[in-house]
Amino acid sequence: MEKRSIIIDTDPGQDDAVAILLALASPDEIDVLGITCVAGNVPLELTAKNARMVCELAGRSDIAVYAGCDRPLGRDLVTAEHVHGKTGLDGPKLPDPGMPLQDLHAVDYIIDTLRAASKGSVTLCPLGPLTNIATALLRAPDIADHVREIVLMGGAYFEVGNITPAAEFNIYVDPQAADIVFKSGIPIVVMPLDVTHKALVTAPRNQAFRALNTPVGVAVAQMTEFFERFDKEKYGSAGAPLHDPCVTAWLIRPDIFSGRHINVEIETQSELTLGMTVADWWGVTDRPANALFIGDLDADAFFALLTERLGRL
Ligand code: BDR
Ligand code: CA
Repeated sequence: MEKRSIIIDTDPGQDDAVAILLALASPDEIDVLGITCVAGNVPLELTAKNARMVCELAGRSDIAVYAGCDRPLGRDLVTAEHVHGKTGLDGPKLPDPGMPLQDLHAVDYIIDTLRAASKGSVTLCPLGPLTNIATALLRAPDIADHVREIVLMGGAYFEVGNITPAAEFNIYVDPQAADIVFKSGIPIVVMPLDVTHKALVTAPRNQAFRALNTPVGVAVAQMTEFFERFDKEKYGSAGAPLHDPCVTAWLIRPDIFSGRHINVEIETQSELTLGMTVADWWGVTDRPANALFIGDLDADAFFALLTERLGRL
């Protein structure tokens, strides 16, 4: 498989952390050019700190981490401490990061990196609100040609909403940014709740992480243990949904996912359904397809891959 060069745009978040670890554990398939942070699950200061803690957990203090936008384009920030805890990364006790945060703003880093790269060569992997990506596209529309694809976690169709009855968190936090990204013309792969709610860390899967008996394995077990209480209480599900790792797993094993090329539009006006991903799954409009919207995965294959890769760190 052709190795991808990626920028991870993230708001860690326990599931963001696992997504980053999976990418860093997979150097044959993925070259992580840099990690850009955005405000989302917790404010920017914490997401920029958490991303560095995760890099250090993976033994990769050489990764360049950038802080980006501290609020959505047109509205106040909504955070999710009720899911991820006060730090955003509650669960394991990880040391404060020693590695530096880069001076450059994440949006400038994205623009500079894409302009320096050949056309169609870089994959963007947003795991949080799309503020950094949309700001880069607004400021430098020429970068779109340099993006190979955007593989993102966000939205929902059959599962509808997790932060409101109609909207998924990442899209709801910055619907305006999401609208810009979905209208960008760049090839997009979407990991909505429809698939991520099938990537559940059941007790045996958590035990498999812990049984790695490494700092990474134990930390991931502790993260998912903390993170699961929200979904168990809310949905009665069997464990924590690994939303964001679906993005990095797709880069390695697209064959274990299935979906449809469809039109996806973002609701940016309605108070009631703000941030809804209106996905034409059944093809009832003639609006052109702008995204591969994933609906299913082979969960056992996903967890086998994840556990094997985490064991390499
Ligand atoms: C998304 O929101 C965040 O809470 C998670 O990190 C994930 O990116 C799920 O709705
Ligand atoms: Ca996230």
